[in-house]
Amino acid sequence: MASKQIIIKTERDLQAMRPACAVASMVLDEVAQFIRPGVTTKEIDEFAADRIRQHDAKSAFLNYRKYPCNICISVNDEVVHGLATSRRVNFGDIISLDVGVRYNGYIGDTAKTVAVGGCNLHAQHLMDITERALYVGIEQAVVGNRVVDISRAVQNYVESNGFSVVREFVGHGVGRSVHEEPQVPNFVENDKSSPKLRPGMTIAIEPMVNAGGPEVQVLKDGWTVCTKDGQLSAHFEHTVLITDSEPEILTLVKQSAVG
Ligand code: MF3
Ligand code: CO
Ligand code: CO
Repeated sequence: MASKQIIIKTERDLQAMRPACAVASMVLDEVAQFIRPGVTTKEIDEFAADRIRQHDAKSAFLNYRKYPCNICISVNDEVVHGLATSRRVNFGDIISLDVGVRYNGYIGDTAKTVAVGGCNLHAQHLMDITERALYVGIEQAVVGNRVVDISRAVQNYVESNGFSVVREFVGHGVGRSVHEEPQVPNFVENDKSSPKLRPGMTIAIEPMVNAGGPEVQVLKDGWTVCTKDGQLSAHFEHTVLITDSEPEILTLVKQSAVG
């Protein structure tokens, strides 16, 4: 089945995809900087649309499966796919921002959770563990490993710190499409054979970590995913290239690297 195939990127693909990932990374940073107490999530989304346009890119999420916003903005107990509304963010809230852009025909997909102004230690700890879980996963993104080695590392790290990983949403291959094979879960599924990692694979690794239990529910808006127990959730994501040596984090780019 063609749709089940993992697409290996050539150096030529990567020459186009690296800038796409750089744009996603810059937009994410710009949007994070824009956030301050009192702005609405709609204003954040409009700012993101503006920045994406300035980079001559397009939102990869707008209209994807009828998703109605430019980026995903998920507040506090919202896990992913939060919608932009007239809701104002407050000092102490934590906001998960997920940016997907299309540029040069390729997608860059990256996310992070930031505090509005500042936050309490519990929220900061959740964000820190989630970000570190992402890097613990990336460390396993090497030839010789399978996808499940990433999943196991993330899950063990998160659970040993007393938090839980979301099961219903997973990382994924990424390239010309937002979601390609393989799936990259943040937990270990016992019965499935897991693909071997090979040079040229580009995958989005994206731990979604709940402070309480792993269960989530979708709100009546049909999109916003939130924790069932109402506790906080955080989300960090990078698009990563598997190479013959170290993983290359495509969405980790110094501002000076791109004009
Ligand atoms: N957040 C998802 C990811 O990182 C993609 C969002 S799809 C959308 O893979 F339709 F909700 F935008
Ligand atoms: Co994303
Ligand atoms: Co993703």
